[in-house]
Amino acid sequence: MGQPAMASQRRSRYEGRRSCAGHGGGEDAEPDCGAPHDMIVTGSDACTTFETERLLLRSRTLADTNDCVLMDREPEVTRYVSGPWSNASAHREFIENRTSGLWLPGMGYWTIVLRQDPAIFVGWVLLIPVDAVGPEIEIGWRLRQRFWGQGLATEAARPVLTHAFEVLKLAEVVAEIDPDNLGSLRVAEKIGLKQRGPVLHSARPAVRYSLTLGEVAGAS
Ligand SMILES: CC(C)(COP(=O)(O)OP(=O)(O)OC[C@H]1O[C@@H](n2cnc3c(N)ncnc32)[C@H](O)[C@@H]1OP(=O)(O)O)[C@@H](O)C(=O)NCCC(=O)NCCS
Repeated sequence: MGQPAMASQRRSRYEGRRSCAGHGGGEDAEPDCGAPHDMIVTGSDACTTFETERLLLRSRTLADTNDCVLMDREPEVTRYVSGPWSNASAHREFIENRTSGLWLPGMGYWTIVLRQDPAIFVGWVLLIPVDAVGPEIEIGWRLRQRFWGQGLATEAARPVLTHAFEVLKLAEVVAEIDPDNLGSLRVAEKIGLKQRGPVLHSARPAVRYSLTLGEVAGAS
């Protein structure tokens, strides 16, 4: 596999308003996602929930903020991820802004809970523009450490990736992962993302993984 050039600098603020970046269209293109052109959704699409063998994924709400903060305070959880973790108020504000973000319909953050006890917060999966800027659409995952090593991140990410292609018809989904974050790299591989090469993510070296709609269609 060739080594693609470093990703170009993020070009535009992209928080799910009018254009359908990631849907194969440019700024002026009509959206092909089936959503009204001016439709804005606050937070994740509340209608889109997922159920797996062991997990429920539901739209993240501001009521999940404390659980998100507590998870991020586990030192291993943010070891490979940049963010305002050491500043309590900035950290909380960051989470709340991401939860309340204006994402395109069908995108956002999903809180993962246990099916057998939905009061138990496991973590989250996201599908949003990279770094909330885009234009690429990123899938990401974060779990409380006590739930690692049981296949749960993979189980949670799979339906979100399927949703990205089958419902949203995204042209491509990417994941940008610290090269030392072996667990996360493995999740990307297990859900079928392909390694593309080095990239900078939040100014940190990362490995870019992605999958395109064409590759999904070609594999089926
Ligand atoms: C990354 C993360 C979500 C993985 O969650 P998880 O539920 O443990 O993931 P899974 O169990 O589905 O899969 C992990 C895989 O990585 C492997 N793995 C984990 N740590 C590893 C290590 N140090 N070396 C090699 N492989 C490792 C596991 O064996 C498993 O692969 P396998 O099923 O082939 O055995 C979790 O570690 C996490 O929340 N990390 C902190 C947040 C984070 O870094 N998010 C990603 C940012 S890009």
